[in-house]
Amino acid sequence: MNLKLWISFGAAALATSAAAQDSNDLVLDGNAFLTEIAAPSHMENVDTIYSGWRFRTSETQALQSDDFDNPGMIFVDQAIDLWAKVDGSEGKSCASCHENVEDFAGLRPTLPRVEEGELVTMENIINECRTERMGAEPWKWSKGNMTAMTALIGLQSRGMPVNVAIDGDAAPFWEKGKELYYTRVGQLDMACSSCHEDNYGTMIRADHLSQGQINGFPTYRLKNAKLNSSHGRFKGCMTNIRATPFKEGGEEFKALELYLASRGEGLVVETPSVRN
Ligand code: HEC
Ligand code: HEC
Repeated sequence: MNLKLWISFGAAALATSAAAQDSNDLVLDGNAFLTEIAAPSHMENVDTIYSGWRFRTSETQALQSDDFDNPGMIFVDQAIDLWAKVDGSEGKSCASCHENVEDFAGLRPTLPRVEEGELVTMENIINECRTERMGAEPWKWSKGNMTAMTALIGLQSRGMPVNVAIDGDAAPFWEKGKELYYTRVGQLDMACSSCHEDNYGTMIRADHLSQGQINGFPTYRLKNAKLNSSHGRFKGCMTNIRATPFKEGGEEFKALELYLASRGEGLVVETPSVRN
């Protein structure tokens, strides 16, 4: 751990020293989740990557450390109902074709992925099932039904390391995402990297800056009391630097999602995480 992080984590470590749990370890159902690991070799400026969980207060961390306290789980329960709900002209539910949602274990860490030349996210896959196979309306990217379902499906891979393909067909999308990550935009003339690479570990307006990892998405935010998509978060960050945000579900954010996923290579899926 570098000095900057050591200093900033020091306070949190002291605050929880009475508890048996080390504040650096996310323990869920008795399983320890890895929250830091050596950065993948494609990251030139960072040695170690950290889950966003590490940058939250001990109170927020505690909410994610127990599924009964995690408010994101309420939405997972809603998705279990949605899973069995018939919708659309074909009279089908997800359950009509997919026997168990548990069968999707292992899917989240590999998304987004390229299919027939297109970069495809979990939201795209779900909506393709809805429109092409159920004859139902697509769900909106960041609306409740969609984030609940991506949380339920993501949860099946909890604890599995992020492992997206970035070569072959995926390479041009990854390059585009990388370029967007380092491009300064907005009235504040900042790039994602200005905060999440150059300044993580520092405080920004009473918020503790993380590396902007997406292994916990969709994430429950105390601020808006709902699940938030990664694209919703990208949009918020762009708005904060007074840039015109790209569209949720658009090519730019999908490329950025792939690139960010690759910056979290080896961190484990924490869906649904809890944030302020
Ligand atoms: C009429 C049948 C049908 C219905 C209904 C259906 N799907 Fe699918 N789904 C498929 C088929 C076929 C595939 C592609 C083949 C595969 O990977 O299993 C697929 C693929 C998927 C995948 C990707 C699986 C993978 O490992 O790549 C996900 C996730 C998924 N569906 C979720 C859903 C959800 C959520 C619903 C309900 C909103 C739903 N599906 C409704 C037939 C269906
Ligand atoms: C002015 C600084 C700043 C810039 C520039 C910025 N962000 Fe953020 N971002 C934040 C802050 C503050 C938070 C909330 C604290 C945290 O998790 O880092 C945040 C949170 C995030 C998170 C959530 C991390 C988690 O663990 O829940 C993601 C993902 C993210 N940003 C992505 C981006 C992307 C992509 C860009 C570029 C389009 C970007 N940010 C630009 C300040 C910034």
